[in-house]
Amino acid sequence: MTKIGIIGSGTMGIGIAQVASTAGCEVFLFDVNSDQTEKSLFQLKNTLKKLTEKQKISAEKAVEIYNNIRSCTDLAELKDCDLVIEAIIENKEIKTEVFRKLETVVSEDCVIASNTSSLSITSLSAELRNPERFIGIHFFNPAPLMPLVEIIPGLLTDTNLQQKIYDLMKLWGKEPIIAKDVPGFIVNRIARPFYGEALRIVEENLATPEQVDDAMRSVGNFRMGPFELMDLIGIDVNFSVTKTVYADYFYDPKFKPSLLQQRMSEAKLHGRKTGKGFYDYSENAVRPTPEKNEDLYQQIFLRIISMLINEAVEAKRLKIASDEDLELAMQKGVNYPKGLLAWGKEIGYGKISETLQNLHSEYQEERYRQSPLLQKI
Ligand SMILES: NC(=O)c1ccc[n+]([C@@H]2O[C@H](COP(=O)([O-])OP(=O)(O)OC[C@H]3O[C@@H](n4cnc5c(N)ncnc54)[C@H](O)[C@@H]3O)[C@@H](O)[C@H]2O)c1
Repeated sequence: MTKIGIIGSGTMGIGIAQVASTAGCEVFLFDVNSDQTEKSLFQLKNTLKKLTEKQKISAEKAVEIYNNIRSCTDLAELKDCDLVIEAIIENKEIKTEVFRKLETVVSEDCVIASNTSSLSITSLSAELRNPERFIGIHFFNPAPLMPLVEIIPGLLTDTNLQQKIYDLMKLWGKEPIIAKDVPGFIVNRIARPFYGEALRIVEENLATPEQVDDAMRSVGNFRMGPFELMDLIGIDVNFSVTKTVYADYFYDPKFKPSLLQQRMSEAKLHGRKTGKGFYDYSENAVRPTPEKNEDLYQQIFLRIISMLINEAVEAKRLKIASDEDLELAMQKGVNYPKGLLAWGKEIGYGKISETLQNLHSEYQEERYRQSPLLQKI
């Protein structure tokens, strides 16, 4: 597969374009908003310049990567592609409309993929004339830096396709894993409490966002705290994933979205990309210094990590992926310092269970129910 189409030139689209182009593919990048493509290509030029200065790539390679990407203003320009990866807005109706148009443009052999974070691959494929050629290829942000790629075959996907894509992702220098087509796949399902529980802690005025971030960094060794990460992902994108996962699990209270996140999203305080989210990214903005409190930090960490470990144990019980892939997913997809199953063992599953029991007693909410496997592990 050498001719790759990318639809959507935002955060993810341009990142995936860079990955494919670096691997030597010819990339056709299309977006309804051509200004966005121009802006993204300009940013890519700067990124490549920095990589050259740091001697990560040669000047020739930088030119080659940039020149391999062709900016397209019409979807029809993707007609000769072997694989098209869609990375547009997380909206099923809009994605479906794009796939329908795309099917009239590309050849019968062209593989069509979605980078969706949370929509069902099976449901997207079912809208296609030829659903067997459709598969989920889920990159992580920033795509050129994060090694993990979740490959998600839907119920209607050709059984040979997942291996083909697996091999291609290896060629692109990625660490692919195969995930079941469940809401949020692996990472976005297991990671939900990282954001959800952090938002709750702030909504309940137990701590400030900077304290929660500081606690997760200093006690848990996470590279980024939940609020910094939400600002990077985009609060709108993160909120939309949360809502989809919640609805797709038939409104399981474990995944209930946060009102605070809803308000931030309504206010278009989307994080880095809009210049303001939980933090201010304007030029002279100063980050508030968190008021350190060791006891509070331990409580915050234990509450969030217990919820995360409980989700990993539940994913293991449901065999959403192999144990190895569950561990790899969280470390390579969202940079967690350890695999959650190993972390549970280290902290002690008894302690995790006790923490959840205490939260359940305090809040009387289903949200804190334990995986049946947690008691037996
Ligand atoms: N941001 C992340 O961290 C992340 C990570 C993994 C997956 N994803 C998924 O990747 C997809 C894109 O996310 P993003 O963060 O890059 O979004 P983004 O908002 O940065 O970019 C989306 C782009 O799609 C374009 N677009 C919208 N409708 C279009 C259409 N009909 N045809 C062509 N282009 C259209 C927009 O103009 C925009 O440039 C989503 O499905 C998201 O869930 C996002």
